[in-house]
Amino acid sequence: MGGLSDCAADYNRGMDPTISRVRDLLHQASAAAALTGAGISAESGIQTFRGPGGIWRTYRAENLATPEAFAKDSKLVWEWYNFRRSVIAGVEPNAGHRALAEFERRNNNFTLITQNVDGLHDRAGSRNLLKIHGDIWTLRCTVCARERHDAATPLPELPPRCACGGMERPGVVWFGESLPEEVWINAQRTAGQAQVLLVIGTSAVVYPAASLAALAKRSGAVIVEVNIAETPVSALADYSLRGPAAEILPELLASEIR
Ligand code: OAD
Repeated sequence: MGGLSDCAADYNRGMDPTISRVRDLLHQASAAAALTGAGISAESGIQTFRGPGGIWRTYRAENLATPEAFAKDSKLVWEWYNFRRSVIAGVEPNAGHRALAEFERRNNNFTLITQNVDGLHDRAGSRNLLKIHGDIWTLRCTVCARERHDAATPLPELPPRCACGGMERPGVVWFGESLPEEVWINAQRTAGQAQVLLVIGTSAVVYPAASLAALAKRSGAVIVEVNIAETPVSALADYSLRGPAAEILPELLASEIR
């Protein structure tokens, strides 16, 4: 991943020494990765799940984000996902999403693992992206399992129907479900091979996603946390950058040539 130039030395003058150090590590790493959570989309105006104002403080996850809830009242679950889709459609990716996408364009061994289903990383331009909790813009047939992308907001019919006539469900992972197998295997491989893992805007309490930081650490990666608050990852992080992702990431990931 490109060495530091003289320009970088100039640019680094006056920069927070921790940020400067992590920038050096990123530029020296032959493989780097990031794991993002809801915190990276907070500054786009999407509520996080936990903490003050979190979605799971207002709604009960077991009534909306479980297979049991969908079996009991698919229309209610779909109304909630339809509402969330409308909220997400009305916001834009922020400087944090854009900084990750730009970093990927400049570095050919950077993989982004996200727990977010909002699609904001895609809209910012990230392509080497592992969506371990699925995608709110994907619909999956409960009968034939066919998947399709549908960005309509609102959806014209609830619950939506597949061409085969079967009822579709949101293409996201619910509590109690397994992660998409191939994506999860790739995510573990990515974390195991990364020399630097950025852990950004996640409370790191939902497993198995939260296990990726420890896996990377065991495999020798430098762990860098970017979060406004302390989390369980803070204890194993080599560097903790405290503050909003939309402010820290552009500074951390900016090109060394200005
Ligand atoms: P959480 O809502 O649990 O955590 C959000 C994290 O982001 C917290 O640690 C906050 O401190 C941090 N945060 C908030 N604003 C931030 C900002 N501007 N910059 C940086 N950090 C910020 O969200 P997740 O960890 O993503 O799963 O939640 C994990 C999973 O639980 C989600 O994927 C979802 C949820 O239930 C499913 O739906 C299966």
